[in-house]
Amino acid sequence: MLSKRSLVGIRLNFQTLAVLFFMLVGVSAYAADPAVASSDEAIAAGKTVFNANCKQCHKLDQKNVGPALRGVTDRQSIAWAKSFIKNSQAVIASGDAYATALYKEYSNTVMPSHEFLSDGDLDNLLSYIEHGDKVDPAAAAAGDAAASAGDGAAAAGSGIPNEYLSIILGVLVFVLVLILIVLGLIVTVLTKYINKQDLPEEDKEFVSQKTDFGKILKSDAVIILVTALVVAFTAKTAIDGLYSVGVQQGYAPAQPIAFSHALHAGQYEIACQYCHTGVEIGKSANIPSANICMNCHTHIQNVGGKEGISPEIQKIYNAVDNNQPIEWVRVHNLPDLAYFNHAQHVAVGGVECQTCHGPIQEMEVVGQHSTLTMGWCIDCHRQTEIATEGNVYYDKLVQLHSTSKDALKVKDIGGLECAKCHY
Ligand code: HEC
Ligand code: HEC
Ligand code: HEC
Ligand code: HEC
Ligand code: HEC
Ligand code: HEC
Repeated sequence: MLSKRSLVGIRLNFQTLAVLFFMLVGVSAYAADPAVASSDEAIAAGKTVFNANCKQCHKLDQKNVGPALRGVTDRQSIAWAKSFIKNSQAVIASGDAYATALYKEYSNTVMPSHEFLSDGDLDNLLSYIEHGDKVDPAAAAAGDAAASAGDGAAAAGSGIPNEYLSIILGVLVFVLVLILIVLGLIVTVLTKYINKQDLPEEDKEFVSQKTDFGKILKSDAVIILVTALVVAFTAKTAIDGLYSVGVQQGYAPAQPIAFSHALHAGQYEIACQYCHTGVEIGKSANIPSANICMNCHTHIQNVGGKEGISPEIQKIYNAVDNNQPIEWVRVHNLPDLAYFNHAQHVAVGGVECQTCHGPIQEMEVVGQHSTLTMGWCIDCHRQTEIATEGNVYYDKLVQLHSTSKDALKVKDIGGLECAKCHY
């Protein structure tokens, strides 16, 4: 017969065993897999979460608004990284030395909390951070070379650029002047030489006769030539002037807030799409509302870690507090009769923003880079090949077109039809 006491003993032993068992499982799991998963699915899923929540402030291998992230699980434990991502302020408040130092290093910039991320999301995120988008330096250099070769080809395709034309003209004029000087020298040398010879009187007169410039200037040929030049020049100026009516190339109005693309899109490499949210999905690119600015400027109140609030950033706060939109001055503006769609060009056509807008990421103040005339649209549609690769929509067209020698251009899909651009 078992006594009550021994029953309790067995139960106790059973409990200890169970606890021991679970501890063992825990330890072995920890010992077996301390690393971050590197499967392609995990990395891809992590990239999506990263692009949606972290990309505006972080890069994997470079410092941005926040630190370069790769290697964070070497610097700290996975558990630390997860809790920091979920709520960095809580980790800092707990007195964690590493976190406090980092926070100070980044001039007390608050990283938003991400409590909504599931544990799975966090695992995927870390997979992407540690194993995603590894750059192979050789491949990157090759890519750059290919891109610049492409630029060169594009320039060649659109004729000789203006600045080269001026240089070529300058060189030509210089060469002409040189030839004139050399010819002049030859003439003087020859005249001297001939004068030394014994020549008959009439030949001597012929050799030493002076050119009469006055007579040449008054000749019909010169008068006609000069008049023709003046008329042609005036006409060209007038026609150029007429063509440029309503063309606002170079227009760069002052904006209500000294917002710099050079700083945001250039130095901090914030993606254009982060602010211009419509550009891949709709007709209009959209100008960001003050709320988008506040994603960062709730925390970033001044440049370079200066104390206090920058007066320019104060203007964002005023707009938000008073619920008044910031009155940005519109730079690009097509007349109402023309229809232009960003998604068609950026998402489907794969045209870079810079092709039409110029090097925005270098501009302190945005200016209009292209003419935005009908001729500009049409020229590009005549020259640009359609990015058909990987787009099933075009498979049939490409097949039909394959008998022609030319590549499929925008003009071949109706890019020159009036109704495509005019309502
Ligand atoms: C608004 C900008 C911002 C966003 C968005 C942001 N972070 Fe941060 N992050 C920072 C800053 C700034 C720091 C430096 C520490 C600090 O100031 O709190 C940081 C630090 C970190 C660190 C510590 C890095 C290290 O080297 O130890 C990790 C990890 C991190 N962020 C991950 C993420 C992840 C993952 C996301 C997206 C889910 C994210 N962050 C979104 C600004 C941001
Ligand atoms: C942080 C937010 C932000 C980012 C990132 C950003 N922009 Fe802007 N962009 C703005 C704001 C605000 C304006 C309106 C004020 C101005 O014109 O400077 C603007 C204006 C423009 C305009 C002129 C719009 C008009 O009125 O016609 C163009 C073109 C433009 N951005 C292109 C780009 C491109 C290309 C990139 C990426 C290289 C980019 N932007 C990145 C916020 C941003
Ligand atoms: C993804 C983060 C982010 C977003 C979104 C963002 N900014 Fe900034 N902004 C920054 C950073 C980073 C700095 C530079 C801080 C530094 O240099 O210390 C900055 C600096 C500035 C400055 C310079 C302040 C000064 O005194 O020179 C202005 C002005 C500014 N931003 C306006 C805006 C406006 C307007 C928007 C919205 C259209 C916006 N920012 C959106 C990150 C952002
Ligand atoms: C094929 C040429 C082209 C490309 C590529 C292009 N844009 Fe534009 N963009 C225009 C034209 C034309 C307008 C004027 C549209 C109008 O007035 O209706 C414009 C206007 C804008 C505006 C002013 C607001 C609006 O939607 O009218 C912004 C902001 C802008 N573009 C940003 C961008 C960004 C960011 C990209 C790249 C992701 C880009 N654009 C790519 C031609 C282009
Ligand atoms: C830098 C070159 C470029 C410029 C400049 C340009 N486009 Fe385009 N456009 C394209 C490309 C590439 C496509 C083809 C996209 C696709 O695959 O559907 C296209 C397609 C179009 C289409 C659809 C044509 C069709 O048959 O489906 C319209 C409409 C259009 N563009 C209007 C304009 C207008 C209006 C302008 C001037 C304000 C303009 N584009 C300037 C490159 C350009
Ligand atoms: C690829 C787009 C595109 C196509 C195709 C196109 N247009 Fe245009 N057109 C424009 C744009 C953009 C403007 C406005 C440019 C400006 O104001 O300089 C314009 C302006 C005009 C204007 C001048 C209106 C004014 O007030 O100055 C006329 C007229 C016109 N187009 C007629 C036509 C006709 C006719 C066709 C067909 C043969 C045609 N367009 C095809 C884009 C296009």
